[in-house]
Amino acid sequence: MNQDEINSLNEQTDIVSLVSKYVKLEKQGKNYKGLCPFHHEKTPSFIVSTEKNMFNCFGCHKAGGPLKFIQEIENVDYQEAVKLLCDFNGVKYVGTKIKVDPNLKYYQIMETSKDFYNRFLLDDKSSINALEYLKSRGITEEIIKDFEIGLSPNSYDVLYKVLTDMKYLELDMADCGLVDSGDNGKYHDLFVNRIMFPIKDEKNNTLGFSARIYVKDPNQPKYINSRDTKIFRKNQVLFNINNAKPEIIRKNRIIIHEGQMDIIASYKSGLKEAVCTLGTAIGENQIKIISKLTKNVIICYDGDKAGIDSSKKAINLFKRFGFNIHLVLLPNGMDPDEFVMRYGEDKYLEYFESHIIDEVDYLYNVAILNNNLDDKNVLNKVKLDVFSLIASLGSKIEEEKYLKRFSEYLNSSLDAVVEDYNKSRNININIEIKPQIKKLNKVKKYNSECELRLIYYAIKSRDEALRIDNEIRNDLIAFSQESLQLWVSLVNTYYEEYLIFDEEKFVNMISEEAFNQYKLLNDVLRKSLNQDYNEEDLRACINKIKDIREDIKNRNLHENNLNSNDETIKSRNVDEMFRNRRNKEKRKFEEEK
Ligand code: GTP
Ligand code: MN
Repeated sequence: MNQDEINSLNEQTDIVSLVSKYVKLEKQGKNYKGLCPFHHEKTPSFIVSTEKNMFNCFGCHKAGGPLKFIQEIENVDYQEAVKLLCDFNGVKYVGTKIKVDPNLKYYQIMETSKDFYNRFLLDDKSSINALEYLKSRGITEEIIKDFEIGLSPNSYDVLYKVLTDMKYLELDMADCGLVDSGDNGKYHDLFVNRIMFPIKDEKNNTLGFSARIYVKDPNQPKYINSRDTKIFRKNQVLFNINNAKPEIIRKNRIIIHEGQMDIIASYKSGLKEAVCTLGTAIGENQIKIISKLTKNVIICYDGDKAGIDSSKKAINLFKRFGFNIHLVLLPNGMDPDEFVMRYGEDKYLEYFESHIIDEVDYLYNVAILNNNLDDKNVLNKVKLDVFSLIASLGSKIEEEKYLKRFSEYLNSSLDAVVEDYNKSRNININIEIKPQIKKLNKVKKYNSECELRLIYYAIKSRDEALRIDNEIRNDLIAFSQESLQLWVSLVNTYYEEYLIFDEEKFVNMISEEAFNQYKLLNDVLRKSLNQDYNEEDLRACINKIKDIREDIKNRNLHENNLNSNDETIKSRNVDEMFRNRRNKEKRKFEEEK
């Protein structure tokens, strides 16, 4: 695109509809007026002129045309702003060529449907019960407008007819997940008599819907989400990202909730930087979107058991993306929506802002929640939980800081806590083995698959794990560093506590390194090894490990006598450690009996 083309596109862009994607505008004479998105204000001083096709803020003095507006609000450079301007106008910018966006028709269909549902809710007489329901949940007309909430009619094919009248193609409607053809070949609507929450992207395009039931019907799911389409991927969207984006940038933080109603509760209370996923755990794709806007996240899930478990998972994931993590734990298992309904918006805001804690405080708080720390077993579990989180911090300074804080919580000496911590992380073995492993790169290449297989078998049952461990205990030095961590976490830590493998519990307690290896194992083996346990393969893997171990011994003897002595000493230490543990195991087992 050359400069003339860019200028012409800029001039042709409808600045009111562009700005409206971010700012609520009201007509005032020839102009439009709203709250400035670039600085904090209570009375509007942000003017948009259709005549000049420009915006201007009398408060902070930002002014310009459409391109300038995009640059400022999206916080992007000129090139990127040109691309976004093209997107907004439905032209595709590919190097120097202009190409029409192939998904444009889907965006248009979704936009039309969203507007239809929204108008149906606000204008149609039959929507009275839905409006009553929304009112009972504290959703005012203003909120309905801000979120463009709608209602799908209680009928067979109203939306289908509306879209057909507008000359959209049946196949395209079906590709949007809005209609389907029945046995008779006739098309019918997929969303019937539900409250429609549009799910939008950052540019305010409607991609899909989350539809809530509002009449009691135990046979129907509470929410139905759009199926995945060319423009809608459940694991790539964040509800309310469109409203939240400017606020996320301004406050340099994002809030994550569990559900749409929670987002609305926060929004009403002045926390507009909140988003949620659609009933699924937050994933890497979503975190990548967030990553571009801020690195500060506040996780505020439901205060119940499920919410706490999801929080722990989310902490680990955000951690891997280098986020600065805080959490808010709501009292009595409440979710934000329930809190606001019970205590009001002001109390919620006050509670929220004064209860933002970091992940170690959070973990400690949930660990002691309903737990009696006088019970030694309970205390040990709490310790394991907190230790595994501290280990994932990956920084010695942070580690020390949190261990100190934890020792204060426990009312015990720092030394004692550090000792327990080191034990729980098996730091001693890893540090000792590392230099040996480094020298063995050549050997390592051959063993990774068979060590993964062994871990796979060990995961299947505790008995199996202990049996294999018994056999290869002296050969573990042949494992890669990562697999060794995973092995020790599984056999030494996890199965010491639990009898049955539970992925969620396990993943929450292991180090990042072990977690990555666990993922690798799933990636590599899930397809090839999902048949049941195979004794022959297991034997082959054990033998292979023993061979490698033998190799290592011989190589060391050849290459360097001193080192081999070192190695024997170290491996003896490892042996001893495992033997001690094994004895402990035995005792425990006998006690249980
Ligand atoms: P409300 O009852 O409307 O307040 O919802 P909630 O947010 O309290 O519901 P809950 O905590 O049970 O669920 C959180 C989120 O999970 C919801 O906002 C939905 O996005 C999703 N969800 C809940 N129930 C269902 C369901 O039956 N099906 C699907 N697909 N998603 C659901
Ligand atoms: Mn709720």
